[in-house]
Amino acid sequence: MALCYVLLLNLLLTLAPTAIAQSFSNNGQFFTKGLAISDAPAPDSPQHAGSDIVIAVDLSGDGKISQDAFTSNSTSPTHYISLNIYLTSSTTNFTVSNGSAFLSQEPGSTVKHLNWPIPNCVPSGSYNLTYYETALINNQIYIALQEFFSITPLPITMQNANPSSDNSQCNAVSNTVQSQPQQDSAPAINPYADPNSPLDSGKTPGAPGVPTITISSPGLPSVWSIETSGAPTATVTVTAATTATLVVVSSKTLTETLPGQTNLITTT
Ligand SMILES: *[C@@H]1O[C@H](CO)[C@@H](O)[C@H](O)[C@H]1NC(C)=O
Ligand SMILES: *[C@@H]1O[C@H](CO)[C@@H](O)[C@H](O)[C@H]1NC(C)=O
Ligand SMILES: *[C@@H]1O[C@H](CO)[C@@H](O)[C@H](O)[C@H]1NC(C)=O
Ligand SMILES: *[C@@H]1O[C@H](CO)[C@@H](O)[C@H](O)[C@H]1NC(C)=O
Repeated sequence: MALCYVLLLNLLLTLAPTAIAQSFSNNGQFFTKGLAISDAPAPDSPQHAGSDIVIAVDLSGDGKISQDAFTSNSTSPTHYISLNIYLTSSTTNFTVSNGSAFLSQEPGSTVKHLNWPIPNCVPSGSYNLTYYETALINNQIYIALQEFFSITPLPITMQNANPSSDNSQCNAVSNTVQSQPQQDSAPAINPYADPNSPLDSGKTPGAPGVPTITISSPGLPSVWSIETSGAPTATVTVTAATTATLVVVSSKTLTETLPGQTNLITTT
């Protein structure tokens, strides 16, 4: 049983950092602060001026958001309003994608693709591929149907041995540079990692990387047991018709709370 506790705690501790981050990488995907998930490019990847930057964005939250939510017209409680992409540094701001075409292209596909030709005039250095998303997210921790504006930088490195002195292509896609980081109104917790959000992957037990947790309570009041059924799955079933809250309150402590009753399990 001690081994089971350690296993379960390890799982929860592994998930804990992602539960509070607004953007994060997981299984090769980069979760923006909003609904969009970038499949490509990889954070910190080298890009080459004169070549395409290959962009792939999963709009569906890995299958949790239906395709009719990909337009500002959608009546879905959670839907996109706009998604623009810029290539920014402290001195430059290039439009990579704006307008509604990106959201509506490739009908039937939950992943939208864009090969953006990086002009030869873009100099070497550090850049952000920055996602500006406006979306309605039915996030129950906030007022339902709240509109969120998220700005998420994805860092990349530009390589250009021979920058072109012809700036016409760069000028054609240039915008005014604004100070960074910019203010946004992104959800305080990433919507896919927020336990109060219907989009939380924890709502889908068995999803990749998501432990299924089962608490057995043979009767009230009772001592609860936590069991795991083989890594990386832990299983807990709440049999009482009460609300149960599982909270990791520190890196070493797991509390289970029932109305009028608290059982504290502490590991060293
Ligand atoms: C919104 O709906 C109208 C009417 O159905 C349609 O013509 C338009 O293309 C839609 N706009 C978007 C962004 O999907
Ligand atoms: C990318 O964005 C981060 C976060 O806002 C910022 O700290 C960093 O300076 C930006 N990088 C560039 C090259 O602008
Ligand atoms: C998109 O960006 C281009 C180039 O910066 C600009 O001319 C155009 O007005 C923008 N369109 C929208 C819909 O924002
Ligand atoms: C880049 O330009 C867009 C469109 O004008 C603007 O919304 C955004 O704030 C700019 N970003 C930076 C980092 O300057």
